[in-house]
Amino acid sequence: MASLSLEKKLFLTLVLLLGIWVSQSWSRSLYEATMNEKHEMWMARNGRVYKDSAEKDKRFKIFKDNVEYIESVNRVENRPYKLGINEFADQTNEEFQASRNGYKRLSNERSSQTISFRYENVTAPASMDWRKKGAVTPIKDQGQCGCCWAFSAVAAMEGINQLSTGKLISLSEQELVDCDISGEDQGCNGGLMDDAFEFIIQNKGLTTETNYPYQGSDGTCSKNKAASHAAKITGYEDVPANNEAALLKAVTKQPVSVAIDAGGSDFQFYSSGVFTGQCGTELDHGVTAVGYGTAADGTKYWLVKNSWGTSWGENGYIRMQRDIDAPEGLCGIAMESSYPTAA
Ligand SMILES: *[C@@H]1O[C@H](CO)[C@@H](O)[C@H](O)[C@H]1NC(C)=O
Repeated sequence: MASLSLEKKLFLTLVLLLGIWVSQSWSRSLYEATMNEKHEMWMARNGRVYKDSAEKDKRFKIFKDNVEYIESVNRVENRPYKLGINEFADQTNEEFQASRNGYKRLSNERSSQTISFRYENVTAPASMDWRKKGAVTPIKDQGQCGCCWAFSAVAAMEGINQLSTGKLISLSEQELVDCDISGEDQGCNGGLMDDAFEFIIQNKGLTTETNYPYQGSDGTCSKNKAASHAAKITGYEDVPANNEAALLKAVTKQPVSVAIDAGGSDFQFYSSGVFTGQCGTELDHGVTAVGYGTAADGTKYWLVKNSWGTSWGENGYIRMQRDIDAPEGLCGIAMESSYPTAA
């Protein structure tokens, strides 16, 4: 090499730089192609059609950001949960939250009420899964309607109804969306599980899913359908707040409506494992705790039924870390939970 002239050295350096540039842009366009293919495959699998190419470009960029985020999270070793490129992969987290999360916080006055807790002396077994006891209907899908509160309340009511009558009956969320409108509940624009229980008590029952099927949008109340009662509750109670031990006792006895902060991207793309965050305590989503247990690595979890279809999470369920240091629980799960009573 020492004998090379300056010109030759310069020439070789140029060739080398050119080579690097070519190979980099080649791999970048290959990467874009793969990402494009991924998007096309994802569109086909999810039956997604965009109205024009501008919309497609916009959705592709969001999809790409989400896929990169999901892959970066999944690369972290020892993270107890995985994310997946699910059917929500072309929505930003803001869009996703706006279309699905419709839990309204309890007013301070109501959330600080002192209540008697009927399960205070319950001894909780090591694990519980109400699905195995036949008290949980199949996963439902709220679609783009912020009525999580109705799905949460109905799932808890389906549970207590099965426990008190021995019959598992899928009940109507649409009845709540259409008819429970004189109080704070506002169909697809959000509501509260407690107010749903209140409505069901005053209405003297709730009809079946089959009789009053889910539409995914606000409709006019069918008084006829709402007058046909398939199940009843006699009351509801709030679980003592910020107390995971109390929540555990309640879930030992029946499926319980819980409010959580489901606002983060990790929640949007949760796919499996025990979810350990990220989330805060800005309660915005109503779901149902249908059990609890301990994972193989010793992490305790809540078994939670969601209403985002079966392609999200573990066939529609999420296991959320239980017994964390904060009294509110992970994502605020112990802050505003309640259960209907049947006697
Ligand atoms: C729990 O046990 C205590 C002590 O025996 C009793 O005073 C209380 O009434 C019990 N609570 C319920 C809800 O049964």
